[in-house]
Amino acid sequence: MDSFLIHGGTPLYGDVQIGGSKNAVLPIMAATLLTAETCVIRRVPDLSDVRFMVKILESLGAEVHFAGGTLTIRASAIQGFGDYELIRKMRGSICILGPLVARLQTATVSLPGGCIIGTRPIDLHLKGLAALGAKLTIDSGYIRAEAPRLKGAIIFLGGRAGPTVLGTANILMAATLADGVTLIESAACEPEVVDLANFLSSMGAKISGIGSPTLTVTGVEELHGTDHEVIGDRIEAGTFAAAAAATGGEVVLHGARPEHLTAVLDKLHEAGVRAERTQGALTIKAGSALRPVDVTTMPYPGFPTDMQAQLMTLMCLASGTSVITERIFESRFMHAAELMRLGADISIEGPSAIVKGGRPLSGAPVMASDLRASAALVIAGLAGRGDTRVNRVYHLDRGYEKMEEKLRRLGAKIERVDGE
Ligand code: UD1
Repeated sequence: MDSFLIHGGTPLYGDVQIGGSKNAVLPIMAATLLTAETCVIRRVPDLSDVRFMVKILESLGAEVHFAGGTLTIRASAIQGFGDYELIRKMRGSICILGPLVARLQTATVSLPGGCIIGTRPIDLHLKGLAALGAKLTIDSGYIRAEAPRLKGAIIFLGGRAGPTVLGTANILMAATLADGVTLIESAACEPEVVDLANFLSSMGAKISGIGSPTLTVTGVEELHGTDHEVIGDRIEAGTFAAAAAATGGEVVLHGARPEHLTAVLDKLHEAGVRAERTQGALTIKAGSALRPVDVTTMPYPGFPTDMQAQLMTLMCLASGTSVITERIFESRFMHAAELMRLGADISIEGPSAIVKGGRPLSGAPVMASDLRASAALVIAGLAGRGDTRVNRVYHLDRGYEKMEEKLRRLGAKIERVDGE
């Protein structure tokens, strides 16, 4: 398993190109199962999660070609069985269920496994499919969904923690081929859901209310092939912004959409970090000192849970106390214990982390526990003194394309080595 070896203390300076969004491309890949025609998807990041999804689509019978950031997928003859060995590796793969049952009238897909950041149930996905008329049975770890043809319905998809991103994607995809009109209430408004809805519209789907909590879908008989460019990854952009701020540097982000980053930029501003929009780019400039800020994660357009860990690293460097409250996933504070190994003072009280910042971070070996936690540890290593070894960076490779190369181009002293 690879590790990153980081020699900290160098401010990051320069330009960085933000890649296509991981969380947008995964459901878009699943959506290609809705048509027998060829779909072309551009600006696709080369990530291990994308490679997993390619394997899943191939196991269903789709022909997939992936080169130079472009995916060409033709799902002309497919079967509807999603094997446990593939599905368990990536939770996002659950969003093949909706398209498969809509296209094939029957699908059997493994239940996804647990996850380090919480139990992550799929009850809302199943509630939505049942409302569309699918008969669902769960047996030996598999969900079997059957429906001669799905039927439009009024569906409330809000859960305990608000809307569900992949649940909305799953039901939206299924509804495009249903008979009649589907109203999805409390739909997720994340830019990645918007990108999926735009992709589906370009395939011939009839969707209104895109970007709002109420999506109206009028089912069509069939969808056709399309050509689509994926939006920039707002979480990758936010991560590089946090790295620039933590190291006291100045970084120009290219290919990110500032309008998708409003909540993150607002908190950075409160923390004393400057952000300027300049001709299609976004410049992030560290201020003279970081200030503590309180933040609560929320569904979009609120502060994203996928930026919570990176913000925590930043708050370890700000003089004073900040309170970070996680409202989307329970147990998403695994990074706190590792940050404490670097010298941070953090205590967890229920859904909140109390960060007493301002103590210098100093290098140590740390263990990455999930994707965004790993990013937080890399930022801490870059900002701290001495050498930090971040083990198990395969978590990072799931969601950041060539992170160490991009950071090196900004002046970071980071290398990939064989590790534990
Ligand atoms: C997606 C993102 C993930 C991000 C998360 C929240 C992808 C591939 N992953 O995950 O990076 O952190 O959105 O922005 O896009 N819930 C239920 N029942 C369900 C489904 C979800 O109770 O059936 C709960 C979850 O446990 C959680 C909350 O709803 O508390 C939000 O989860 P959800 O939006 O579904 O996350 P994902 O779509 O899995």
